[in-house]
Amino acid sequence: MKILAIETSCDETAAAVVEDGRRVLADVVATQIEIHRRWGGVVPELASRNHVVQVLPVVDEALQRAEIAAGALDAIAVTSGPGLVGALLVGVQAAKAFAVAWGKPLVRVNHLEGHLVAAFLSDPPPAFPFLGLVVSGGHTSLYAARAFGDYRLLGQTRDDAAGEAFDKGAKLLGLPYPGGVAIDRLAKEGDATAHRFPTAIVRGADLDFSFSGLKTALLHHVRKHGVPEGRALADLCACYQEAIVRALVEKAFRAARRLQFDRLVLSGGVAANSRLRAAFAERAREYEGMELFVPPVRLCTDNAAMIAVAGTHAFLRGERAGPELDADPAWRL
Ligand code: KG4
Ligand code: ZN
Repeated sequence: MKILAIETSCDETAAAVVEDGRRVLADVVATQIEIHRRWGGVVPELASRNHVVQVLPVVDEALQRAEIAAGALDAIAVTSGPGLVGALLVGVQAAKAFAVAWGKPLVRVNHLEGHLVAAFLSDPPPAFPFLGLVVSGGHTSLYAARAFGDYRLLGQTRDDAAGEAFDKGAKLLGLPYPGGVAIDRLAKEGDATAHRFPTAIVRGADLDFSFSGLKTALLHHVRKHGVPEGRALADLCACYQEAIVRALVEKAFRAARRLQFDRLVLSGGVAANSRLRAAFAERAREYEGMELFVPPVRLCTDNAAMIAVAGTHAFLRGERAGPELDADPAWRL
């Protein structure tokens, strides 16, 4: 079965065609990074307007690259939440229009489920059950995934998401948006032991995350010493990044041990971080019997192929969305 998916929850306009929830026939992403960069972050109104401009060409290109006519599709999937409401609406309205015009069934997909199941597009795919950590610009959430469509939230961030910690930290250091990419690059030249930043301890719910204290610690450091240059800036980036990575690795493996998971899936835009990927791989090697699944970088950051995977299984379960489908900006998975 072949499904067309549309994703417009944040600042990427994306469309993909995926066969049987496993094989990517086309995966098109039109990024708006250059548009938002001069403002230092995503401007919701600009995101919506650019989705309006991009969504039809992106869908056309996906169908062309997949060499498939609209009539040959089995269904259409669309991200309807969580995300920026105006941005989501563009994808939802486009998907509804296509569904009506082409006479195809429509399914809605939760963006976070998309990140969780992106790993099914690589080889080997994970098997259920697995522990899934989604680390993105908007979320830091740990799930017990028991089957497609069956996820239990085990822990999440109390304040900033991991991606926000990267982006806000980068801003303090005068680095360009998106900050995660800039810090990742500079940190490669730095010494991660030059300073020690705090790793938050969240009392009570110890599988929850917190990154606002770390951001404040960086702010104090910069107020006291100024923004360093050259080697010292690289050191600061490496240490800041290391504190984020340490928190994510510790919590994920703590949960795996406690709940006896031997499969771990890491995904979301922050999973593109080279140090995070290496640290998870290292820890997984030490942890006997642990299988780690981290999609290639292109499938970690926002894309529609992952939405197609989730959409395929929702479709197979019989889920359908009607013309009343609306954006659900705070949809909890
Ligand atoms: O999943 P995503 O593409 O969009 C959301 O759903 O939020 O994640 C975007 C986030 C941004 O905060 C960005 O800074 C971060 O992912 N990111 C990275 C890297 N690449 C993207 N963070 C750290 N290192 C990277 N290499
Ligand atoms: Zn995302």
